Amino acid sequence: MSAWNKTCTAIVGGNVEMEMAAWGFCLFVGLSIVFWTLALRVKRWCELPSIRVGPLEVFRNYYGMSILEFHHENARRAKACGETCWSIGLAHDTRVIGTVDSEVVRHALVSRFENYDKGPRWREIFKELLGNGIFNADGEAWRRQRKIASYEFSKRRLREFATRVVEENAAKLLEELPGTVDAQVLFSRYTFRVIGEVGFGVAVDDSEAVAFDEATRLSASRFVDPFWRLKRIFNVGTERQLAEAVRGVRDFAGRVIREAPKDGADILSLYYRRGERKLLVDVVVNFLLAGRDTTANLLTWALVRLAEHPDIVARLREGNDPDYVKAVLTEVLRLHPSVHSDFKTANQDDLLPGGVPIKRGERIMFCTWSMGRQPDLWGPNCLEFDPSRHLDRRGGGGGGGEFRPPKVEVFPAFHAGPRLCLGKDLAYISAGKLLVDLLTKFDFELLVPPDEVRYDNGMTLWVQGGLPVKFTSRRRRRRADSSS
Ligand code: HEM
Repeated sequence: MSAWNKTCTAIVGGNVEMEMAAWGFCLFVGLSIVFWTLALRVKRWCELPSIRVGPLEVFRNYYGMSILEFHHENARRAKACGETCWSIGLAHDTRVIGTVDSEVVRHALVSRFENYDKGPRWREIFKELLGNGIFNADGEAWRRQRKIASYEFSKRRLREFATRVVEENAAKLLEELPGTVDAQVLFSRYTFRVIGEVGFGVAVDDSEAVAFDEATRLSASRFVDPFWRLKRIFNVGTERQLAEAVRGVRDFAGRVIREAPKDGADILSLYYRRGERKLLVDVVVNFLLAGRDTTANLLTWALVRLAEHPDIVARLREGNDPDYVKAVLTEVLRLHPSVHSDFKTANQDDLLPGGVPIKRGERIMFCTWSMGRQPDLWGPNCLEFDPSRHLDRRGGGGGGGEFRPPKVEVFPAFHAGPRLCLGKDLAYISAGKLLVDLLTKFDFELLVPPDEVRYDNGMTLWVQGGLPVKFTSRRRRRRADSSS
């Protein structure tokens, strides 16, 4: 006899009618809870702001790969009504407030940082993959890790160690060219190796990176899947696939830890020496994900954009202008931010700039991708790819100009405030070095028209189906040109 039956028997003394009544009562209470929870959610969803989107629209656009355009369109509708935010209703979640308003972004990430965390919902969704790593931690657990990891990303460390790792890996990668390759795969291989060495002092084998892609994609799909918990209980469908992918990721992390020297100045060694041994697997997974996908996305979209701008390619090839390289990379991130949207959960009720009330537990979603396309933030030419907007002397005059970083609340591509991306400098150094060396040695041709390149859905901005590119050696080509 099950525990439940025993309990019922104890209560109703084996009387079948009483047992049925007990079941009926429980069903009634259960359904009432579901009904009132949904009713309250609908009520919140219908409150300010006036632009509302529902779960079916979100679901359709997510799987239709048009979620970023969908957010962009909602931002346009909200602005047309003079609103700073819009309301997103999800059947299985509290209301989400969408925004592209720089004041709201500053409020959540900088001025009222203490009131906005990743939150329990985010942590639950990424629990299996990210564990208690820095990406998935809040409060004291986050603060402790931030302090340890910050040392690794100090300017001095980057100059001394990371620059050498970047140079060696860029040179090694270029030995694989010329030829026709999927540039996205090529760049992920490079960024995976760089973060493996800078982060853990280990030469990682990127053939196992597939499990990371699967695990990230499937974890992110939980945001729009109302049935994911049920699937997890029965270990079916996407949850079964996720469990397998996470096992692959964590096995891989375990091998990295066994091979890592753990007595160097890399991140893993720092955690190890501070006695954070239980966290080591999470450290490997969090830093590999942070460093690999984002920088690979940046390099991939850089090629897409540069294919249409031979003038910018020529200027990059002139070399020796780190400010210009930074301006180009920043412009790529403005229009194609690797982390295209991000969330923050309110710890307490609050009032957002523009007068939108947010309740404890509700989330703000800021759409960095759409922010880069807002004329009030970037001017009427916001859709043009123009690196000179990030230089203090605009265009003209044959070069020069100091890099002028955009304000973080207008350009949260690296986040902002106390949780600003720790790898920002490493990203600029590693992407800049590879891009300039690549362009100096090779000509390239996209084998798909730039306007047909689509993004994939997921946590970061991968190109759907990869980016086939033909690289030809510049020296060889120049010789062929002169002999014909
Ligand atoms: C183009 C490249 C990159 C972009 C666009 C980028 C962007 C971001 C963003 C948006 C966040 C905030 C995520 C969130 O809290 O939801 C973040 C955090 C972080 N990034 Fe990056 N990132 C890049 C490269 C890197 C690299 C190379 C590393 C090195 C390992 C790195 C390490 C981190 C870490 C550790 C955090 C967590 C910081 C914290 O929560 O305190 N990132 N990054």
